[in-house]
Amino acid sequence: MNPGYMVEVANVNKVFHTHHFLQRHEESGKRAWYRKKTVRAARNISFGIRKGEIFGLLGPNGAGKTTTVKMISGLVRPTAGAVYVDGMNVDTKRLATLRRIGVVLEGTRTSIWPLTPLENLAYFGNLRDVKGPVLRKRGMELLDLIGLKDKMNVQVRHLSRGQKQKLAICIALISDPPVLLLDEPTTGLDVQSSRSIKDKILEITRELGKCVLVTTHDMNVAQELCDNIGIIADGRLVACKPTHALIDYFSDVTCAFYLDRAADPTPFLGIPGVLSAECNSEDGEYALVLRLIRQEDQRSAALYAIVELLKNSGRLLHGVERRKQTLENVFIQLTSGLPPATGD
Ligand SMILES: Nc1ncnc2c1ncn2[C@@H]1O[C@H](COP(=O)(O)OP(=O)(O)O)[C@@H](O)[C@H]1O
Ligand SMILES: [Mg+2]
Repeated sequence: MNPGYMVEVANVNKVFHTHHFLQRHEESGKRAWYRKKTVRAARNISFGIRKGEIFGLLGPNGAGKTTTVKMISGLVRPTAGAVYVDGMNVDTKRLATLRRIGVVLEGTRTSIWPLTPLENLAYFGNLRDVKGPVLRKRGMELLDLIGLKDKMNVQVRHLSRGQKQKLAICIALISDPPVLLLDEPTTGLDVQSSRSIKDKILEITRELGKCVLVTTHDMNVAQELCDNIGIIADGRLVACKPTHALIDYFSDVTCAFYLDRAADPTPFLGIPGVLSAECNSEDGEYALVLRLIRQEDQRSAALYAIVELLKNSGRLLHGVERRKQTLENVFIQLTSGLPPATGD
């Protein structure tokens, strides 16, 4: 256990066993079970989150994100490994750890629709032992912070999806827990609502000093919001680094050379330090796009050789552009080529 972490997931595994009921067998008339199916939703996952930090769990559908959130919030018990919240094991100190966690799971049924936001906060506050003037004061402060004050007396069923999501975050924060777990907080929202939710999550983390876990399959959300990112695929954490380091780590440099005529990429592949080459037609120009090695001295030599080759070919060089590596490229590199799900 690392005392610096507010939330720590240590070597956690989760295996789900499922049965599927099969129809009656035509000849014997018996009903039979499918062979028991095993799904490994988490394979040796470890990471930690500090106070005031947003950790992003980024992965495709079925990767094991929700399962991980549920294991931290005590809704699913790990098959092996342990989860610690504020230094306490979630499995053995259940009540104490749950008091420190606010969680918003996927979907919109996270509040009571016939009630107003204020009534929802009163109801969920009471469930979590927040009462009287403290409840009223905190409820108003949260609605104000998240921008729902003008809707506090409108029934939830009349609110937009984004507003419902904001209310769900207020409900999760009503008992002022130090840990906030948000499962896909922006999925299904339009651009404005998504922007606004992201801004509020940042505000809450920095101003209230919370320890926040966000799951998402959206690179932009992870890149804009998270201090650290864990990439999860098929139940495995395939990378876990500070966001900038994750992008830098995979930053072979891509350069585009804009030409007056198309160029055959093959000779450029022969230059040491050129990792890949293709020629595209872009806006009436031809772009020779080359991925180059990270090491600066070798890359410099490669660039001189490329320019020399272009010069000798007699083409006009209209311009050169260095393209930024995106998290999306990193994500695709890391999650492609993994062995298929289920089994072992
Ligand atoms: N209660 C469950 N019973 C059986 N399998 C489950 C259960 N919950 C999740 N799974 C399986 O575990 C895997 C990971 O699911 P989940 O954590 O929901 O992924 P994500 O949230 O990343 O989309 C999936 O293959 C899913 O079908
Ligand atoms: Mg999920």
